[in-house]
Amino acid sequence: MKILANDGIAQSAIELLSAKGFEVITQKVDQEDLIEAINQENYAGLLVRSATKVRQDIIDNCPGLKFIGRGGVGMDNIDVEYARSKGLTVENTPAASSQSVAELVMAHLFSLARSVYDSNRQMPHSGNGDFKVLKKKYAKGIELRGKTLGVIGFGRIGRATARYALGCGMEVIYVDPYSEVAHLNIQVGAETKVDVPIEKVELKELLSSSDFISLHIPAQADGKAVIGAEEFNQMKNGVRIVNAARGGVIDENALITALDNGIVSCIALDVFENEPNPRKDLLVHEKIALSPHIGAATVEAQDRIGIEMAEKIIAFFGK
Ligand code: 3PG
Repeated sequence: MKILANDGIAQSAIELLSAKGFEVITQKVDQEDLIEAINQENYAGLLVRSATKVRQDIIDNCPGLKFIGRGGVGMDNIDVEYARSKGLTVENTPAASSQSVAELVMAHLFSLARSVYDSNRQMPHSGNGDFKVLKKKYAKGIELRGKTLGVIGFGRIGRATARYALGCGMEVIYVDPYSEVAHLNIQVGAETKVDVPIEKVELKELLSSSDFISLHIPAQADGKAVIGAEEFNQMKNGVRIVNAARGGVIDENALITALDNGIVSCIALDVFENEPNPRKDLLVHEKIALSPHIGAATVEAQDRIGIEMAEKIIAFFGK
């Protein structure tokens, strides 16, 4: 049984699958050559992350393909319903990377609070010479403690982020039509667990009262942004935002306007509308902190993802 892991998979998963007699191929096949490769090589399973797209053309033209695995959370790169309607099994690993994404969000929150991202850009060029100028430029940092974090989307990743933020002494509020969480259990140290009350609010309230906002919602089915000009205009002046969810949930044109008119003081983007070729004006904007879609890119998360996916493949093929 041959499985193509086209965006890679953890070594631990390859070992698990190999032990059960699967042949796992990790040699990347270009998107346009995928149909031919799947048919020629008789791949029964296709595993992807967010880079490879699994659209109707592949589903319709690869009769031997039985299993599509998304090693990760977001399935917007797969025509999931269509694949299932054609009898294929589609699986993801929704819980395996929450901790890692939340930690990246916290890294960006700390970075935004103290302009670390910009300081890192400026110091190599002018740190020797304009040291005092830069020190003055970054003199208005703020602390996270005591600030309000608004979490938009309170699924696993939103909740994991909230736990960290509460642990840092932030107030946390959230919006989510599907969640009614009123308490979060937070681990402090190795042994202690603390139950902390948490408040669900309306979007309008979240936008107007948050010092920091973090998004944790999937790409919308209609492709529309959740945060556009109207939402930016309701935000607290000088708000700082992190988007490690999906490109497109923030309208990038409206974002540039909100940064330029000062409503948003700075934003960290891990995801972009046009991946893997984000807009240049975003990449060079001095108020934008950047990372290249690395929320789930930790050794631990990829290990958990790989093992969970391997177990799903083994169960599906009845090995
Ligand atoms: C996800 O949806 O799991 C994350 O965005 C990670 O995507 P990646 O597997 O392409 O890193």
